[in-house]
Amino acid sequence: MTLHRKHFILGGIAAACWAIAAPAFAQANTGKLKVGLMLPYTGTFAALGVAIENGFRLHVAEQGGKLGGREIEFVKVDDESDPAKATDNVNKLIKRDSVDVLVGTVHSGVAMAMAKAAKDSGTMLIVPNAGADAVTGPMCASHIFRSSFSNWQPGYAMGEVVAKKGHKKVVTITWKYAAGDESVKGFKEAFEKGGGQVVKDLSLPFPNVEFQALLTEIASLKPDAVYTFFAGGGAVKFVKDYAAAGLKKSIPLYGAGFLTDGTLEAQGADADGLLTTLHYGDSLDSAKDKAFRLNYVKAYKLQPDVYAVQGYDAAQMLAIGLNAVKGDITKKPEFAAAVEKARIDSPRGPFTLGKTHNPVQDIYLRQVSGKENKVIGVASKSLADPGRGCRM
Ligand code: BEZ
Repeated sequence: MTLHRKHFILGGIAAACWAIAAPAFAQANTGKLKVGLMLPYTGTFAALGVAIENGFRLHVAEQGGKLGGREIEFVKVDDESDPAKATDNVNKLIKRDSVDVLVGTVHSGVAMAMAKAAKDSGTMLIVPNAGADAVTGPMCASHIFRSSFSNWQPGYAMGEVVAKKGHKKVVTITWKYAAGDESVKGFKEAFEKGGGQVVKDLSLPFPNVEFQALLTEIASLKPDAVYTFFAGGGAVKFVKDYAAAGLKKSIPLYGAGFLTDGTLEAQGADADGLLTTLHYGDSLDSAKDKAFRLNYVKAYKLQPDVYAVQGYDAAQMLAIGLNAVKGDITKKPEFAAAVEKARIDSPRGPFTLGKTHNPVQDIYLRQVSGKENKVIGVASKSLADPGRGCRM
């Protein structure tokens, strides 16, 4: 065979391959964009997963069902807030379903497995709740974003508040896993800087809710105050048990805001008056928040909470990135650059992302009044997570 003829044949094969591949490339920009939702739909965090999905879908619906010009298709996995199943679950979305972007999850331990899988596979990941410090710390990556908070943030803000109130000796109580440990660590950092002392850290395994023995220990330790991280069904039970044990009257209880967010209906009067710190509250009264709340209630016949806001903002972040790359999510550096420079118009108030892709945001001081977490001040203005260990 002459060289000329060989080139001709090879060229023909290449052209044929291109003809086959071309529709697939075109598809990459214009076909449906597969969003892999990995959230808890069962267990103590089930309501949180539903609120995140509702918030996400609300923004997509407000954009006419398309982001960056592409119709959105959802693939869902119930992660059960179970870290032991997390790697298999996320790989179902990445390998079996070939999703374009992962959105998840609530539980910090599960989110760390997601971040590892996202890093290994290069899949885009937006975390709409889990605060695991590592996700925007040592595990940070240019294609991993968070629309929520780091566990350090509300804890640190509350540490400052409790120190300023003049409390000296505090006991902490939480679930023994990354979110609880890191929330307490953030609290302790600020509280001890402010002259206080944490005299005892109490914990129980996630998602255990047998609090009685620990409440008896708090009563005998007689601290000036208690700091806690619980969320979802566990938070409902803890607040009720704390009151039933007679502690609410004698030892002030402070918490990261998850203690009373999305839970007030079930907690009733036992939550009344509690002070918490969080990046959202029920009485912000901005035009953006009012519209969000109205549309959420209309769509779901439910009141929104912080989880719904984080889901909504995860979709806003995806939209910002996709608009910048005209729907081509494979253009990761351009996608990241657009999200990094965006001012995200959130119901919580506008926020930006820090260098590690974690929100830089106001942390509000809220007080429970009836069925609302009323914002009574800003505990920490534009608080940025330190992003320890992130190299990006
Ligand atoms: C977490 O595991 O990171 C988490 C769970 C529920 C509420 C807040 C944080």
